[in-house]
Amino acid sequence: MREKIVAGNWKMFLDAEACETLTRGLKEKFQSSAKAGVHVILAPAYIHLPAVQSIVKGASGISLAAQNMHEADQGAFTGEVSAIMLKSYGVSHVIIGHSERRQIFGEEHETLAAKVTQAIKHSLKPIFCIGETLSERESGNTIEVIKTQLEKGLFHLKANEISECIIAYEPVWAIGTGKTASPDQAQEVHAYIRSLLHAKYGNVSEDISILYGGSVNAGNAADIFGCADIDGGLVGGASLKVDDFMQIILSR
Ligand code: PGA
Repeated sequence: MREKIVAGNWKMFLDAEACETLTRGLKEKFQSSAKAGVHVILAPAYIHLPAVQSIVKGASGISLAAQNMHEADQGAFTGEVSAIMLKSYGVSHVIIGHSERRQIFGEEHETLAAKVTQAIKHSLKPIFCIGETLSERESGNTIEVIKTQLEKGLFHLKANEISECIIAYEPVWAIGTGKTASPDQAQEVHAYIRSLLHAKYGNVSEDISILYGGSVNAGNAADIFGCADIDGGLVGGASLKVDDFMQIILSR
């Protein structure tokens, strides 16, 4: 059985007080909603991880993710954060390869593959993001881009390692733009991702959660989550508001 997951990527938003207020609000509503079986993952900025951890500690169904991490155990890497540090703050998941990391910060396939290996080594579950740009889609290259990102970033893993991963399909043209992929467009790529996983790893592919991300909101979540190969969402903007994010969680 694949896990149903709704993850909130808070990016570089929220100061200390706003982050705590949002976390408390979500925790209270989630705990009183009686929605069983959905795993909520919160990904605040690094600096907020300890505060969010102290609020959600012990709350069942809520986990903590980092938005990035360095691929080395430790060292003279000013400004970076290691898997060991994240683990020591109760972080269980880490987003790797978000399109903003790939595009703005120039993270390449090799670096991302090394980060995935490092996360697995330290028992952090990667949420590995892939997705095509608008020009790649319009030139008919979506499938090729997805295949390359998966093969170069994840397919060095063994079956028992990839089963620890979550994949997020996030078309770059849908992130933060208000333009969502239609359920059919998203399902088509999700089914393709699962077919690649199946060809490489066999039945393990059935157990790997594949999330959709890109302008998911309270109004479109139910339709997107209704697709056979969409196991949940990675939500940016709409995860910053308690009521919107709760509605998305309840749609899963
Ligand atoms: P968005 O962001 O929901 O604001 O489009 C999604 C993401 O970047 O993960």
